[in-house]
Amino acid sequence: MKRFARLNTLSVLLLAASLATGVAHAQLAPSASAAPTQAGAPSEARKANIVIIGTGGTIAGAGAAATNTAAYQSAVVPVDKIIASVPEIAKIANVKGEQVFQIGSESFNNERLLKLGKRVSELLRQPDVDGIVITHGTDTIEETAYFLNLTLKSDKPVVVVGSMRPGTALGADGALNLYDAVLVASSPESRGKGTLAVLNDEIHTGRDVTKTNTFKVETFRSPFGPLGYVVEGRTLYFRLPARPHTMQTEWDIDKLDKLPEVAVVYAYGNVNPASVDAAVKNGAKAIVYAATGNGSVGDYMVEPLKAARAKGVQIVRASRTGGGVVIRNAEQPDDKYDWLVTDDQLPQKARILMALALTKTNDTKELQKILWKY
Ligand code: DGL
Repeated sequence: MKRFARLNTLSVLLLAASLATGVAHAQLAPSASAAPTQAGAPSEARKANIVIIGTGGTIAGAGAAATNTAAYQSAVVPVDKIIASVPEIAKIANVKGEQVFQIGSESFNNERLLKLGKRVSELLRQPDVDGIVITHGTDTIEETAYFLNLTLKSDKPVVVVGSMRPGTALGADGALNLYDAVLVASSPESRGKGTLAVLNDEIHTGRDVTKTNTFKVETFRSPFGPLGYVVEGRTLYFRLPARPHTMQTEWDIDKLDKLPEVAVVYAYGNVNPASVDAAVKNGAKAIVYAATGNGSVGDYMVEPLKAARAKGVQIVRASRTGGGVVIRNAEQPDDKYDWLVTDDQLPQKARILMALALTKTNDTKELQKILWKY
């Protein structure tokens, strides 16, 4: 991979001299200790070095006609071509592209998640890399963002970005989303805020963000709102992430080689107990039961879930409602059944957290603490 120009001693001396004389040296990689700029106000001398990783998705998509906003081929445009299609980015950062995958994000699995995370971690360790932007399909961007938020060991900004329309469409949103993502990744104010998701002028924490609509550009929501906005070249934060992330967590992506199998079983009227049995047979170490309401379990599902627990499979009561928290021992006697409950995590997020939690412990009390902590 092409490396950013290394800042050698002479350059540092030249930079110091030029700053003293007020002459800015363009294109020098920023020193890690560069004084923070005003929010979102990149300057020539302090342009950040940002790696833009391509994984596919709609932001790498193309449609047959400009009116194809929701029917198109995803994951066909190489990341370098996507970057070249937004020349304004070069004015705010020194960027390099790297294609890690070219897939629809519905095709992510544990193996690909680990591979992406390890490459991101490797890049973050390079002193001449100031931040990373990951272009990603929107379908599972929320799981990737939560996973990276929990496992990366760096304060440098990592921003996931996608789009709801391909670049060929009228009203395409990818170009501005990518520009904004680079701006956020370049902003000193983004350091130490965990993995971020930038779409539709908003900055979300990877912990909370979720996709709420199949085709609209404002699909991404966080139950407690975004952390801030990115607009007219400025990165504006109004909130901070409330839960531990990156440097504050017990997981290190570089020490993870496999994630335990965790299944999600979706509840509905007439749900078949065989779905629980199948998860157990497939080797699930935990089942996240996306239950109705406040984690309610149908009377004909209690015994199958208890039987799974008796076989050593952890049972996590989640909610399919998309909001709120599941109250322990309310709808079901969790203490008695030795079951777990999510906090506010959506079932797909709870799957990520449970997989990581099971790399640390299989003790129900410890697992419950982790679910409530992160
Ligand atoms: N195939 C979907 C994905 O890669 C397209 C959705 C999108 O990226 O907006 O997530």
